[in-house]
Amino acid sequence: MGDNAKFSINGENYEYPVLTGTEGPDVVDIRKLYGQTGAFTYDPGFTSTASCESELTFIDGSEGVLLHRGYPIEQLAENSSFMEVAHLLLRGELPTADEFSDFNNTITRHTMVHEQLRGFYQGFRRDAHPMAIMCGVVGALSAFYHDSTDINDPAQRMIASHRLVAKMPTIAAMAYKYSIGQPFVYPDNDLSYTGNFLRMTFGVPAEEYEVNPAIEKAMDRIFILHADHEQNASTSTVRLAGSSGANPFACIAAGIACLWGPAHGGANEAALNMLHEIGHPDRIPEYIKRAKDKDDPFRLMGFGHRVYKNYDPRASVMQETVREVFETLKVKDPVFEVALQLEEMALNDPYFIDKKLFPNVDFYSGIILSAIGFPTSMFTVLFALARTVGWVAQWNEMISDPGQRIGRPRQLYTGPTKRDYVPIDKR
Ligand code: CMC
Repeated sequence: MGDNAKFSINGENYEYPVLTGTEGPDVVDIRKLYGQTGAFTYDPGFTSTASCESELTFIDGSEGVLLHRGYPIEQLAENSSFMEVAHLLLRGELPTADEFSDFNNTITRHTMVHEQLRGFYQGFRRDAHPMAIMCGVVGALSAFYHDSTDINDPAQRMIASHRLVAKMPTIAAMAYKYSIGQPFVYPDNDLSYTGNFLRMTFGVPAEEYEVNPAIEKAMDRIFILHADHEQNASTSTVRLAGSSGANPFACIAAGIACLWGPAHGGANEAALNMLHEIGHPDRIPEYIKRAKDKDDPFRLMGFGHRVYKNYDPRASVMQETVREVFETLKVKDPVFEVALQLEEMALNDPYFIDKKLFPNVDFYSGIILSAIGFPTSMFTVLFALARTVGWVAQWNEMISDPGQRIGRPRQLYTGPTKRDYVPIDKR
């Protein structure tokens, strides 16, 4: 703990403890501020507010650092697997070989969904956005798995977490299959987490599906890059929903709803659409000009970040992965050239330099996903699938915290003061 922070309001002086974490800025503990002063703090968008204590993920936005339980994301992306990272986030440490095999088996045993859940899909229009299906179906899990909804029982919490991580690929693949009118493919528990997902998505019952190891590796890396990201909007949504005691399936459905927005998980879809719209490097200056124009709502999608004021470390791994996937599939996509040149031009433009706007994880991910064969509408679904690990880990951490209370922000009220009701004929 550092020196106390001194605060003066209406001529009275107050002191609040300054807490120091293992990394990152100190935080001023203002929990007693309202009780002592009668004043709230005002911080829309939580730009200066730490909403919780967490041991999971650390980001240093100015240095472009992202750590999961201390391990740099670049090292995890290079050497680890998504299942290992899931273990790290959920259980606290990288697994030993035995722990890994045990964890992997547990997740594998939960990959099937209740047969009746399949009926839910038929209720959606064929052209429903898969994120709409995800919100509905994941929320509906709470109606099927009553034996893992007691949030006060740590064992039930862990079973619900395993179920969510394990079933998400099945649910996501089914959303895709439904949209293209193909039969659902049951999970194959002999495959890896990611290999199984690729088979359920791109395989058909009429023939054998062979998982391409290079694509499996690239996809697994994309999942690692999206596994957790500290207290972002969807994670904070999951925590806020969970703070009322809501069951985990409902909380994760709330996170999916938040992730859907174009400023969050929807940005990779928007980024690829933008790159296609630009179409040719010659048109880049026109779009850069638009992005800088205050009167034009257009923004460079996949650029800028609330926390990173430097290169998003996930974006560099993603750019490298694009090259690997293109090499494996022996494809070329002119959109990649547009992206590379757009990045270079923006990074040399004073507007982007001054505002510290760099490519984020979404700038390149759409290019890879589309090369693998996913339609743009599935991009955010893949993000949700991977982020489920982070969401359940954060949710577990919150529920296990003895100091946890229902989240209840306050407000600066600017509406009318008290006034009397006027009957309709007198208004
Ligand atoms: N293109 C042009 N200008 C931008 C952009 C952009 N992509 N991003 C921010 N700015 C400008 C913005 O206009 C503002 O200018 P001014 O100070 O003159 O008003 C300044 O930079 C600061 O932006 P902000 O909107 O106040 O910053 P924020 O922290 O509230 O927003 C953001 C962060 C990610 C929502 C925003 O950068 C953005 O809309 N980016 C495009 C969408 C995107 O790529 N989102 C994916 C985020 S990463 C994935 C995830 O974690 O979900």
